[in-house]
Amino acid sequence: MSGKIKIAILAACKNKENMSKINAAITGISTYVPDYILTNDELSTMVDTNNEWILSRTGIKKRHILKGEGKGTSDMGAPAVLQLLKKTGTKAEDIDLLICTTVTPDMQFPATANIIADKAGLKNAFSFDLNAACSGFIYGLQTARTYILSGLYKKVIVVGADKMSSIVDYTDRTTCVLFGDGAGAVLLEPTTENFGIIDADLHSDGSGRIHLHQKAGGSAKPASHETIDAREHYIFQEGQAVFKFAVSRMADVSVDMMNKHHIKPEDLAWLVPHQANLRIIDATARRMRIDPKQVMINIQEYGNTTDATIPLCLHDYEKHLKKGDKIILSAFGGGFTWGAIYMKWAYDGAAVADR
Ligand code: ACO
Repeated sequence: MSGKIKIAILAACKNKENMSKINAAITGISTYVPDYILTNDELSTMVDTNNEWILSRTGIKKRHILKGEGKGTSDMGAPAVLQLLKKTGTKAEDIDLLICTTVTPDMQFPATANIIADKAGLKNAFSFDLNAACSGFIYGLQTARTYILSGLYKKVIVVGADKMSSIVDYTDRTTCVLFGDGAGAVLLEPTTENFGIIDADLHSDGSGRIHLHQKAGGSAKPASHETIDAREHYIFQEGQAVFKFAVSRMADVSVDMMNKHHIKPEDLAWLVPHQANLRIIDATARRMRIDPKQVMINIQEYGNTTDATIPLCLHDYEKHLKKGDKIILSAFGGGFTWGAIYMKWAYDGAAVADR
């Protein structure tokens, strides 16, 4: 075979490879937050705290709380999904898979994803929950991405949703000021363009569980009179220890992602950090040497909604997002779990933001 023919065959193979290479891209986003707003001032009437302390230590001004007997995480996840279907013009029966990332499922079983899929009429989707605490949403995105890259599934919804108020001890001032309720849902679809999720770097270290967990209610310590009396069904957190890990892990994984993909600080459109504490977000941005204007921040509005923080950010900033924007999502949470996702945004947000 002549050299010229060989080169032609290689070029054709390369072209075919490029043509068939698919990425998984977010093609729509919707959210739901409950109406009731719990302000710092109201919290000051419940525990020994004040607006100045909460604002200066966390950046939080208020959080939304889901009220109403029998209401659970699915009551936020389902409206977010229904709105997402409407906004993207997608038929419910066309959804292949729904992943719900949550630490506050409606029940131990069935999965909240099953309940959301039922309430939203997703008759042809299989669905399951994924628990990675505050990193859940980025774990969910990477999971959804791999289903799409397999070629077997075309429309996957990831819902990050938490009713944190169901596991917050409103007599514990060290944790009750931090958390809020909310849900965000994204649709992922395959694309042959060079947009969507480019890379993900996820980690976990279960030895961190001693610093952040819920003591009772699982199989190791089922609910009993004793566990209720000891208030063990609430979030237990050693704030300072978690803070130190969160700052170093979130910053390291985000900087590593920038270096790996040769992203200069000025080339990054947005950092989308998990919203646990404004000081953690600021420290991460400083380590990445990016300007505060490149950071999505809405912790002041919602507090830490665990699995919903990143989709709530993407949604609130959607009108500013442009096709091709280089974005890093970064999170840290209970487990410990942490990670970063690098994506090139796949559509112009301004055209659809207020739908
Ligand atoms: N109001 C007033 N004073 C308070 C409050 C409050 N709400 N909470 C604590 N204090 C007091 C403490 O009692 C302590 O008083 P002392 O010095 O007399 O003992 C003082 O304030 C300082 O307490 P610290 O715990 O040192 O406060 P810190 O600056 O560390 O802030 C916080 C606490 C906000 C919890 C911080 O440590 C933090 O953000 N940690 C990380 C949270 C996080 O990222 N979690 C991971 C995700 S959550 C998930 O995965 C479910």
